[in-house]
Amino acid sequence: MTKLSWNSFYQTGVEIIDKEHQKMFEIVNDILTKVDEGVDKTQIQEVWNQLVSITESHFLHEEKMMVEHRYPDVSEHEVEHENLLSELKEIQFRYPMDQITLNEHLIEVLKKWLFTHILNSDIKFTDFLNLETEEKQS
Ligand SMILES: [Fe+2]
Ligand SMILES: [Fe+2]
Repeated sequence: MTKLSWNSFYQTGVEIIDKEHQKMFEIVNDILTKVDEGVDKTQIQEVWNQLVSITESHFLHEEKMMVEHRYPDVSEHEVEHENLLSELKEIQFRYPMDQITLNEHLIEVLKKWLFTHILNSDIKFTDFLNLETEEKQS
């Protein structure tokens, strides 16, 4: 399956957020590689669990920053996080019971969802944050 490659479009300019996003890219790529290699299902579950936990803590970080900086669109952004996380958790729950296969289509939908969120909603927030930093410096 096609791997994700990190490029400057995903760069938000906020170091901690970029680091966490890059980590999420790595984990998604790890899942894709393991699915391609047809490794044991439990190994894929382990990486999926990692994806869920890192995504969860990343979302909390972002939400904390939004509240601290009084970002006006925080609730809208939180709803997107909730939806995304519940999709990841549903797979985490259903995959071990063979109710779901990690096929190309499913992975594509997830990749799109996850990374569309970065390109739209996260960048919208970090633009706000970066502008605030610039204003403070000038
Ligand atoms: Fe976000
Ligand atoms: Fe994010």
